[in-house]
Amino acid sequence: VSCPSRCYLLDGISKGAWLNRSSIIFAGNDKWSVDPRVSIVSSVGDKHEYSLQIQKVDVSDDGQYTCSIQSERNPRPKLLNLIVKVPPKIYDISSDITVNEGINVSLICTASGKPEPSISWRHITPSGEFTSPLTHLC
Ligand SMILES: *[C@@H]1O[C@H](CO)[C@@H](O)[C@H](O)[C@H]1NC(C)=O
Ligand SMILES: *[C@@H]1O[C@H](CO)[C@@H](O)[C@H](O)[C@H]1NC(C)=O
Repeated sequence: VSCPSRCYLLDGISKGAWLNRSSIIFAGNDKWSVDPRVSIVSSVGDKHEYSLQIQKVDVSDDGQYTCSIQSERNPRPKLLNLIVKVPPKIYDISSDITVNEGINVSLICTASGKPEPSISWRHITPSGEFTSPLTHLC
């Protein structure tokens, strides 16, 4: 899975740079980032492509990126937001439990994901039928 962000240089003499919120990632063809997953995709046609490719994008890559063109006339930075989604996953759930009538019992369920998943509980009665959702958390 890779994620190219497209950017084009309008003429041969202009130079491009890619930045994230805190650092320069590429300045022209000079790589400032030490991350081996990032590279520049360039091609020369009627437009000069200067795209940032991030391999195996993960949630830490989420955030704002800037493609900045240095030309003699007007430097025009363009901002974009990269939103990385993570599929929901239950990572902690109570095991089977036997309790005495009358006590308070907590059935634990913890899930992660991005955007934050909504969790619902259903009670399956002894006859096997579903009742309507009991609670909605998150
Ligand atoms: C910005 O890029 C630098 C260098 O690649 C990296 O160390 C840093 O974590 C990045 N910051 C954000 C907010 O993505
Ligand atoms: C059960 O929970 C209720 C509500 O939080 C509380 O008032 C009660 O004391 C608890 N009972 C026991 C046995 O812990």
